[in-house]
This record gives sequence, C-alpha cells and structure tokens, in this order.
Amino acid sequence: MLKRVLVTQPLPGDHLAALADLCNVEVLDGTRPLCEYLSQAELGTCQGLICLLTDAIDHSLLEAMPNLEFVSSVSVGVDHIDVPALTERGIPLGNTPGVLVDTTADTAFALLLAAARRVAEGDRFIRAGNWRLDNRWAPEFFVGRDVSGATLGVIGLGAIGQAMARRAAGFDMQVLGWTPSGREVPGVEAVSLEELLLRSDFVSVHLALTATTRNLIDAGRIATMKPGAVLVNSARGGIVSELALAEALDTGRLFAAGIDVFEREPLPLDSPLLQHPRVVLTPHLGSATRLTREKMVEVAVANSIAAVQSQPMLHCVNPQVYEPSQN
Ligand code: GLV
Repeated sequence: MLKRVLVTQPLPGDHLAALADLCNVEVLDGTRPLCEYLSQAELGTCQGLICLLTDAIDHSLLEAMPNLEFVSSVSVGVDHIDVPALTERGIPLGNTPGVLVDTTADTAFALLLAAARRVAEGDRFIRAGNWRLDNRWAPEFFVGRDVSGATLGVIGLGAIGQAMARRAAGFDMQVLGWTPSGREVPGVEAVSLEELLLRSDFVSVHLALTATTRNLIDAGRIATMKPGAVLVNSARGGIVSELALAEALDTGRLFAAGIDVFEREPLPLDSPLLQHPRVVLTPHLGSATRLTREKMVEVAVANSIAAVQSQPMLHCVNPQVYEPSQN
C-alpha cells in the first residue's frame, strides 16, 4: 500500500509531483493547526509529514501519529519541532540548510543598513507629510551611524554568520565573531561573547534557537553593549530579549535595531518594539526570495523522497536515527 504523506500547505514549484509518483500526497491549506484538519484516526494513518516553521510539531501531535516515519521541514531552523521525541522514535527529521544562506545574510545586512541609516524612519517621515521647508536638510537632520569602517560582531559563525561576515568585509568593517562551538573563521577575529558585545558597533545574531541560546542576549548582556550600538536579529526570536531591547532603545543605550524574527509571530500589536521609530521590523522574511523558497522546497521534497525510499535524508537534523543501535 502507498504511504500517506501530509503537506501542511501548498508549496511553490512542481517539486511535489516526483513525491506523488511514490506515495499519496495530501496538501492542506495551512490556515489551521494539523490536528484541526484531521481526526486522530486520520493523523494515525500518516507516514510522512512535510511542514513549515509555522507548524508546531509537538509532543501531543506526534503522539497522535504513531505510524509516522519521517518529518521534513521547509526551513533550516527546527525549533518548532520536538526533535528529541522524533529521535527517540527513530524518526528522521529533514531540514533545508545551505540554499538560504546568501538570501538570509542579504536580509540581515539590509536590516543593518536600514537601521544604521534610518531608512524606514525616513520613509515614514515623508509619507506622514513631515518633510517641509521648515523641517529639511540640515547638519543634524536624520543623522545615523557610519557602517563603513565600523566593527561588526557576528554571534554564530555557521554558514549564514560567515556570509554576513563576507558582506561586512565589502564595507571595510572589522569583523569580530563568537560562536558556541568555538569555530574560527578566516577574516573574523574570534573573541568571547563579552568582548564582542563590548567592542562592536553592530551586533548581528546568527544562531539556532535552542535551550542554551534562548534569551542569550538578555538585559544583562545588552547593558554591556557599546553605547549607541545597533542590534540585528534575523535568526530566531527568543534569543534576544525583546523587552530588554526595547528598554535599551528607550534609554538611548542602543541607537537602533533591525529585527526579522520575534518571540511571538505574528508580532503582537502591543509589543514594545512597535513603539520605537528606530526599530526596523520585517515579518520573518529572511529567506523570502522566489528562487530561494523554491530551492528550499526542492530540498525538503528530496529529503522526503529519500525517506519514502528508505534512504538516508540528504539533510538530516538527527542522523543518529540511522545508526544501527537505533533500529
Ligand atoms: C527560516 O527562518 C528558516 O529556519 O528556514
């Protein structure tokens, strides 16, 4: 009998066609959590799941899916998934690293530039009709922070952090880096997290959200940042304390921030970040170009096809499930 694979919402491109040759593929419309579409019995007969980062694949959902054989997420981050529960059951989890590296680093650098040079604030200023003869070009008008020649601290030196460092080199920035693994990268001065925060004019976060990185950039660490620094987060909400960031902007300790990811998404309308004109906000669009999204889908489907054919996934977050002791 053909396996049954659920896809939580329609995906760009025609990559699913190759999977549909091998199994029954059912595409949902992505507007509700999985357990609201399908009864316990229907979830129970599903062997494969292709999901997005907006799908919470938690313990109770996994319990309702006793026949699940693989999960493939169209994302590089997997903090929306209970990975230990999958690993314990020997279920491989696929993700999509590599293909979104440059696109996400482009977004981070765009946020850095926009925050430093007050791009979004300037746009709102004109639209609000405030650009008048009595309120225009003057020596102090809309002054921002210099990017060229400044110091950038990159927190997390995986592929995206390294791509950010390469972009900074093109702006003659001095690049400091810290990563939990202690990895060293050519062109990046390896320093402690404390030193990075102390010395950087710009700090950009490029870590996965895990139990150890949650709230890493908290009030205490923000208080040690260079006065007037700019913070960029295009990695995951939950790594930076939003309340502490808002307070540091309030007091003028930080000059600005560029934030693409939030503790809660969509960002609640009472978020203190919305009160600050110098926070450039984007709605978790780091990897959002057509080409990159198609490549992510291609990788997620290739991971699924490998799993359906009982082969190891190309990109597996928990490869220990393939070790003999797990079977
Ligand atoms: C985006 O945030 C991803 O994890 O792919």
